[in-house]
Amino acid sequence: MSVTVFAPATIANLGVGFDLLGAAISPVDGSLLGDRVTVERADHGLSLVCLGDWARVLPGRPEDNIVYQCAERFLELLPESNRCGLRLTLDKGLPVGSGLGSSASSVVAALSALNEFFDRSLGPEKMLPLMGELEGRVSGSVHYDNVAPAYLGGMQLLVQSGNHFCEPVPFFEHWFWVVAYPGTSLSTAKMRELLPAKYDRADLIKYGRYLSGFIHALYKKDQALALAMINDVVAEPYRSSHIPGYVQAKAALAKLGIIASGISGSGPAIFAIAETLHNARQAEEWLNASYLAQSGGFVRVCRIDRNGARRV
Ligand code: HSE
Repeated sequence: MSVTVFAPATIANLGVGFDLLGAAISPVDGSLLGDRVTVERADHGLSLVCLGDWARVLPGRPEDNIVYQCAERFLELLPESNRCGLRLTLDKGLPVGSGLGSSASSVVAALSALNEFFDRSLGPEKMLPLMGELEGRVSGSVHYDNVAPAYLGGMQLLVQSGNHFCEPVPFFEHWFWVVAYPGTSLSTAKMRELLPAKYDRADLIKYGRYLSGFIHALYKKDQALALAMINDVVAEPYRSSHIPGYVQAKAALAKLGIIASGISGSGPAIFAIAETLHNARQAEEWLNASYLAQSGGFVRVCRIDRNGARRV
């Protein structure tokens, strides 16, 4: 028996909910943007094969790969009598250090595939903490704003109350989310080091106002209010100058009529929200011509992905 699970790319923070809000995305052309993990039975031991466009930048030793570590950790949680040898295959569809939830996609695909393979032995309340723990090994701190939407789909607000991790929130269905990855990588751990350890009171109050106002506007279906709330006082002021071309891109996108934009996760990917496909294509064209710094960069016009991790 073999199980393959795909987990989508995600935009963490969404400009307004640092560490507390994230969304899964799917390209409108029907392609799959994310990682796939296959789990098969083997005679003994654990092995990992990495395929795909981005496999070449993964650690050389399987033991250092997060997918391998997911399997080690998952097996530890199973009764000894249920354990068996496994052959894992990671099809790496997302670039590492992109800001598109690359490590979360690998972790969610791996742990979901393992759980399916072992007859869903872990319930959802156990899966998310495990995903956070494993993703935290790569990004340097435990935050769920990529793993939760990659696993569950949609836009997820992290409430983290006991076993209650997150809540799906409504979103504007007609919005297009254009994401551009410039081709260069940034480490989330390093991008987190740029942030102040403490924030001043005025920023604290702004963050609360923007995030609560945004969530309220989603429920009220008040687009004007939602857009007025998309302001990043936590990360963008400290990270933007470390992302080449970001400030210029944001200004150019606004001139094109893009209704909001921001850093996707910890960057360097940027996201831009468009109300029409025509405007999304204009942003795509500009980003393709002016934001991609290196070969391997790409732009995708997306919608919110409702499904999250799924067997393929
Ligand atoms: N909220 C995290 C950060 C997401 O911005 O550091 C990283 O993918």
